[in-house]
Amino acid sequence: MRQKVVLITGANGEIGHGLIRFLAENTDANIVALDVVPLDKALRPMCSTYIVGDILDQMLLGRLVVEHEIATIYHLASILSTKAEYNPETAHRINVEGTMNLLRLAVEQSQWQGTSVKFIYPSSIAAYGISSLEEKARTGAAKEEEWHYPTTMYGCNKLYCEHLGRYYDSYYRQLAADCGGTETVDFRAIRFPGLISAETMPTGGTSDYGPEMLHAAAKGETYNCFVRPDTTLPFMVMPDAVKALILLEAVPKSRLTKFVYNVTSFSLSAQAIFDIVQEAFPDANIQFAVDECRQKIVDTWPEEVDDTAACQDWDWEPDYDCDRSFNDYLIPAIRDRYQI
Ligand code: SER
Repeated sequence: MRQKVVLITGANGEIGHGLIRFLAENTDANIVALDVVPLDKALRPMCSTYIVGDILDQMLLGRLVVEHEIATIYHLASILSTKAEYNPETAHRINVEGTMNLLRLAVEQSQWQGTSVKFIYPSSIAAYGISSLEEKARTGAAKEEEWHYPTTMYGCNKLYCEHLGRYYDSYYRQLAADCGGTETVDFRAIRFPGLISAETMPTGGTSDYGPEMLHAAAKGETYNCFVRPDTTLPFMVMPDAVKALILLEAVPKSRLTKFVYNVTSFSLSAQAIFDIVQEAFPDANIQFAVDECRQKIVDTWPEEVDDTAACQDWDWEPDYDCDRSFNDYLIPAIRDRYQI
């Protein structure tokens, strides 16, 4: 008998760390972890299997389904917004073709199993592209349907993959003779704000100045914040990001009115993050040194997002507001981590 498993791609990344830990501590899920780099040793005992491999490797994906019956896929693997701009075509391959490979695998698995494989996809505020700072100030909390003009390869990839997921869920091979007669994937996406974890550092994102300020201050390293002090983004700490993924995965499909949901916890300016970090770590050496190109990217992302649909459809509510995020989670855990 093949084992029923939860497949996590990008398992060694920031969300992967939080998600694997949560699933291992709170469920009896058999986790199959896939990443291009070897899985963090601390996570290995929490997984049934960990595989070093590429989501573009069709043979590898084929072998995966020979050995496992996949019930849910958390497809976390992605090249983030800043890194993607250094090689947009490679980012496109990984972010889009990689996602399509997994969607196809999920559909095939759904058909074999006679039941829908759940496909949980983290999208991003990068899917938005607001045309100017004036519009951004006017627009307030962005709804899911608004401002679909991303200016980064990563944002374009995320927005397109949201649509690909909707296609594979509802319209895949819609002209085939057996159309409507077979199972398809059950696709569900969350547009995350900037994520901050005490456990790991993000790599290659453009909202990274938030977590980078905090980790650098704790380590006693100098840091140049690459956006203006007034730059404001929505943020969320990792336990809430994991909570959102788990809640969305668990909710009956009948309650869902969308394929893509915004979630948010709190919005903060870079200056406000600076102030909090400076107070917690008085020896911090942080300056503002604006990188105009990266600033332009962040300027197209909303300051706030409207997560009413997630609250209504799957009872989304963050556990951590700003105060709790820093005082009960980030600062104590980071002090602990760097032993200060
Ligand atoms: N944190 C991501 C990035 O900055 C946005 O989803 O690329």
